[in-house]
Amino acid sequence: MFRAMAAELRDFYRQVRSASEALAKPLSPEDQTPQSMPDASPVKWHLAHTTWFFETFVLEKALPGHAPCDPAYRVLFNSYYNSVGEQFARPQRGLVTRPGIGEVRDYRQRVDSHMEKLLTRGALSDELARVALLGLHHEQQHQELIVTDLKHLLAQNPTHPIYGACNAAGGGATSGEIGEDNGSAGRGRGGGARIRGGAADASGSAESSDGAPPLAWRRVSAGLREFGHGGAGFAFDNEGPRHLAHLHGFELASRPVTAGEYLEFMADSGYQRPELWLSDGWAAVQRHGWRAPLYWQQDGAWFHYTLAGLAPVHPAEPVTHVSAYEADAYARWAGARLPTELEWEAVAADTPLRGHFAEHRRFHPAPASEAAPAAECEMLQLYGDVWEWTASAYAPYPGYTAPPGALGEYNGKFMANQLVLRGGSCATPARHIRATYRNFFYPDARWQYSGIRLARNSEQ
Ligand SMILES: [Fe+2]
Repeated sequence: MFRAMAAELRDFYRQVRSASEALAKPLSPEDQTPQSMPDASPVKWHLAHTTWFFETFVLEKALPGHAPCDPAYRVLFNSYYNSVGEQFARPQRGLVTRPGIGEVRDYRQRVDSHMEKLLTRGALSDELARVALLGLHHEQQHQELIVTDLKHLLAQNPTHPIYGACNAAGGGATSGEIGEDNGSAGRGRGGGARIRGGAADASGSAESSDGAPPLAWRRVSAGLREFGHGGAGFAFDNEGPRHLAHLHGFELASRPVTAGEYLEFMADSGYQRPELWLSDGWAAVQRHGWRAPLYWQQDGAWFHYTLAGLAPVHPAEPVTHVSAYEADAYARWAGARLPTELEWEAVAADTPLRGHFAEHRRFHPAPASEAAPAAECEMLQLYGDVWEWTASAYAPYPGYTAPPGALGEYNGKFMANQLVLRGGSCATPARHIRATYRNFFYPDARWQYSGIRLARNSEQ
């Protein structure tokens, strides 16, 4: 590969690798070792697995005879690549106390040293340079998981620990370190949430009194359009091929649903009314006893755990940590529906890529009022803050085939039973998101920063 491209890739490599370490820096070894549920992994595992990716898919190919840093890591830190070989059981990742965090740090440094030499010399083939670039976008995905998995872990602790890398989130405490009892820090500030007017009803723009801008609707007329990634720049294989699709006329809400609006749904017995729910969603409500978004708790007013500690629910901020079932039920209650992923992309394609991302170190969605709209139906928070559930099944685009080899397992084999989310969140690195980006989770998942944007049909 050309040296100029290699230098660019090396700079990106340094930036991404150091960003992962910055996320871990405020955490103790104890913070980085356990996992709180099978879906979430220890921080230490994320740091090692992203390194395993470079060792397995780049170094082993670029350096014939490369002696593995530790043969056991090939199994311990293989996530789901059957083509590579055996994997350690995912639900038990938190039981792996050895290697410790120091050894994982050494592992990172050894792999970094090899990668640095290869990138500085421009010694990677074009194909391996593409794999290295994939490895960096892969690591950015894991940076988001470090945040969301850590949040789920810390939320189990009744002392409401504060993540030291977090800037003022959600009106909660702004200082202190993990381990401090912040149980009272968020309380008494802001007075908690109140149920107010301004529901996102389908009758049009509603004046919202909870501090969020009034909800407006962007109308998009019916027509044939192109979707998916087709230009220059990196994209995952699941974002293509670019293809034509016809959309009926629709309208997309100008901002995400707020916590205040969601409180109205709760107050209107939203969780107790089966007619609002998909069958699987109603079953999930009964099975899990859902009565509010994940991390919410009621003590008079509603509070929720944030990475800045326990905080009152701010009615103007986007509701987050809801499943697709809750998003769908809310939309039905509001007389609207969730957008399809192509409807979302049709609007995102001409929307500037602005929002609150991981670099803001907020790790909590911001009220839309902090980004006042220039026009009535300007899209607010389409990117960043909260991922937006869509009604679209995660399925291959027309003409998609998974790439050959082990990396074909990256995306293609997950195209069943999951739904697409769009737009990125407050835990997504800013350089990681784009209009064609397709995230996917099972519809009952709630530990990601997942929120709701409404859509509705239009006659035009
Ligand atoms: Fe991974």
